[in-house]
Amino acid sequence: MQNLTDKVAIVTGGASGIGLATAKAFLEKGAKVVIADFNDEGGQTVEKELKGTYSDAVYFVKVDAGNEESVKNMVAKTVERFKKLDIIVNNAGIGIQKPSHEVTEEEYKRVIAVNQDGVFYGAKYAIPEMMKNGGGVVLNTSSILGSVGEPTSLAYAASKGAVNQITKSLALEYAGKNIRVNAVAPGFIESGLVNKESLGDFYDGLVDKHPIGRLGEPEEIAHAFVFLAENDFVTGTTVLVDGGYTAK
Ligand SMILES: NC(=O)c1ccc[n+]([C@@H]2O[C@H](COP(=O)([O-])OP(=O)(O)OC[C@H]3O[C@@H](n4cnc5c(N)ncnc54)[C@H](O)[C@@H]3O)[C@@H](O)[C@H]2O)c1
Repeated sequence: MQNLTDKVAIVTGGASGIGLATAKAFLEKGAKVVIADFNDEGGQTVEKELKGTYSDAVYFVKVDAGNEESVKNMVAKTVERFKKLDIIVNNAGIGIQKPSHEVTEEEYKRVIAVNQDGVFYGAKYAIPEMMKNGGGVVLNTSSILGSVGEPTSLAYAASKGAVNQITKSLALEYAGKNIRVNAVAPGFIESGLVNKESLGDFYDGLVDKHPIGRLGEPEEIAHAFVFLAENDFVTGTTVLVDGGYTAK
């Protein structure tokens, strides 16, 4: 079992939702956490708030997960600040929902860039740092839509299916280097965009798709990431945390 005390973790998309809950869960376990996010203002606000409790264990870095140079810079800044890197959570993600024949090339490519290429870039630059330390953990945020389909979510579903396959391929490639690679596939999670107020009747329809009778909470996904960071015998898997959505 890994003890997360003094481990250095990057969480992309760490300024809100699942990423923020994961950053907090890792901090609670004694890790040093880089909150990496495209949202400069949100990231700085979160950094300021968390410093109140966790002091210098928190560091915000602006990143565009869909841009290779930016991800390279994020890893470099992390190592400059904390001197090593043990864990990366490639969590930043975006989606568009519209009829597939109306999706522009630009929209499609941006979803793939952030959700899929971002996982490649994160792993590409984190893994060499982990190898310097004798090992590490790569964690990725997938989705139930990485394994089941959903109308009007073509690019998103494609990107998350790719995340599941990247996870398996990297796990096999780096197991011998003591680097484990896993993903969490959440069902629908309460968030700024997914809630009763913003979605109205559509929200009730979403709840019905989860046999457990509610949507998930970001902390329930963070809990799975902590498990995957700590448990040394798990690699190459995507853990469904979906209230039974995909069991149907
Ligand atoms: N909320 C859900 O129902 C749900 C379900 C399954 C999977 N997910 C996945 O969980 C992850 C987190 O989503 P969330 O629900 O917490 O959403 P969220 O919108 O609350 O958080 C996403 C964060 O990513 C940041 N971000 C967006 N683009 C970025 C980029 N290019 N570079 C860096 N940061 C960027 C945003 O600023 C935001 O802080 C995503 O990968 C998403 O696909 C969410």
